[in-house]
Amino acid sequence: MAEAHRKTNEQTGSPSRQHETIVVVDFGSQYSMLIARRIRELNIYCEIIPPQTDSHILQEKNVLGIILSGGPFSVYEDNAPTVPEWVFESGLPILGICYGMQIMTKKLGGTVIPENIKEYGSAKIKQTKQTSPLFDDLSETLDVWMSHGDRISQTPNGFQILANSDNSPIAAMADPDRNYYGLQCHQQVVHTPSGKKILSNFAKNVCKLSCDWTPASFIETSTSAIRTQVGTDSVICGLSGGVDSAVAASLVHQAIGEKLTCIFVDTGLLRANEADEVRDLFGKQKNWNIHVVNAAERFFEQLEGVTDPEVKRIRIGNLFVKIFEENANNIENAHFLCQGTLYPDVIESALHGSGSAKIKTHHNVGGLPEDMTFELLEPLRLLFKDEVRNIGTELGLPDNIVWRQPFPGPGLAVRIIGEVTKEKVSILQAADSILDKEIKAANLYRDLWQSFAVLTNTKTVGVMGDFRTYGYALAIRAVTSEDAMTADWARLPYDLLAKISNRIVNEVEGINRISYDITSKPPGTIEWE
Ligand code: XMP
Repeated sequence: MAEAHRKTNEQTGSPSRQHETIVVVDFGSQYSMLIARRIRELNIYCEIIPPQTDSHILQEKNVLGIILSGGPFSVYEDNAPTVPEWVFESGLPILGICYGMQIMTKKLGGTVIPENIKEYGSAKIKQTKQTSPLFDDLSETLDVWMSHGDRISQTPNGFQILANSDNSPIAAMADPDRNYYGLQCHQQVVHTPSGKKILSNFAKNVCKLSCDWTPASFIETSTSAIRTQVGTDSVICGLSGGVDSAVAASLVHQAIGEKLTCIFVDTGLLRANEADEVRDLFGKQKNWNIHVVNAAERFFEQLEGVTDPEVKRIRIGNLFVKIFEENANNIENAHFLCQGTLYPDVIESALHGSGSAKIKTHHNVGGLPEDMTFELLEPLRLLFKDEVRNIGTELGLPDNIVWRQPFPGPGLAVRIIGEVTKEKVSILQAADSILDKEIKAANLYRDLWQSFAVLTNTKTVGVMGDFRTYGYALAIRAVTSEDAMTADWARLPYDLLAKISNRIVNEVEGINRISYDITSKPPGTIEWE
């Protein structure tokens, strides 16, 4: 969405207004997001900020602790990022990790030198005689994960050495008077088993935080911020049936009740029963204002004769926007548009821009046109997906919504190879519904990032009873993933695959062959298109 109308109000998304916050100053480490997650798991609000952030953040977010992240730089490189002055002027506890420790050392007058032998991989650090709140309740020797090319050869004034490793005489250090800590190892990765405890010690023992950032407190703070922001205006929200838009809308509904109107566009490309489920839950059970727009015919018309995946996506996206606009513009006094934007997208655009190559044209309810004049309301913009699920549960949403696997905006159209017709959608819906039920019955649904069926454009010969058949080959795709950037094909049990295959071929007319997709991402993508 264009910046021009991206008038997002940070207040609404900021659950930290009354909560204690730890900020992670991000120097480009791939682990910054993991640090934030580990801290948040302690019920402490944590936000990732770029080093250019100014000191207003301290008051704005009630910051009570600062973590300086690792990063790919050497402190001696010309373009090496540095710590903003306000960090050391704040008087707050600071934990520098890897590059964060080195830049802190350099800033405070210690010495950092290049390593002859780079230390990379698992290592052991041994605590010195000094006791420290950072290592409370931890054994004397700890398994850690090292990844660094420079090391500290001399601590700044006031610091003591807390631990060393074979290659790092100063693997951990502290200035207890100023509450400054430095660690050469990464605490946030799985290879550092005590990592979470060290972060917890920093947050609880050093920063003295109260750990009261819970789903319930988030809901309270967030709904009150939404009420203040929206005032007497109304809000519209595009529901997609997915967890993000459902939770965002539920929060807004909790805040302003019937001043929220939801629009649900039934494209005819949804999974079996999906439109009915949404209508039933939000319309009938919850009695929200919800406009269900039955637009299947218009979508099928647009897709007639189209086989190119990009053309499909663009046509679906454009029509979706048109229909959304037609309906949104009819809602009186609607000044705000609520969206289920999540934190990884915010971090991605704030820290790294969006320079990556376009693989495909993404469409979701967020891809609305630039000339829409709504102000954005993004109550989940500082949350990770699992946190959104917890909020959804706390708000009373049922498990089938809260735990729903991601589903692409263009729907089943990206799972039908070649032309999309009503007949093919029905075939795919029937097959997909069997797959979905079997995966759930096997208790695997939540372990998989996604599991779905793809209708190929290939027909093959088969035999059923005494008859020759000529039907479509269907592919099953099931993947595990953390964030959809990479994925691995799921090692589903053979017996389960056999059951799914038997059921689909026997129960769904038009399909006579099943294959299982064993491609990871990369080089494959999750969807087939
Ligand atoms: P790929 O196929 O690129 O998909 O590996 C990555 C993730 O994105 C989902 N996906 C979409 N989600 N609008 C969406 O909201 C889209 O247009 C879209 N296309 C793909 C896909 O299901 C997977 O989770």
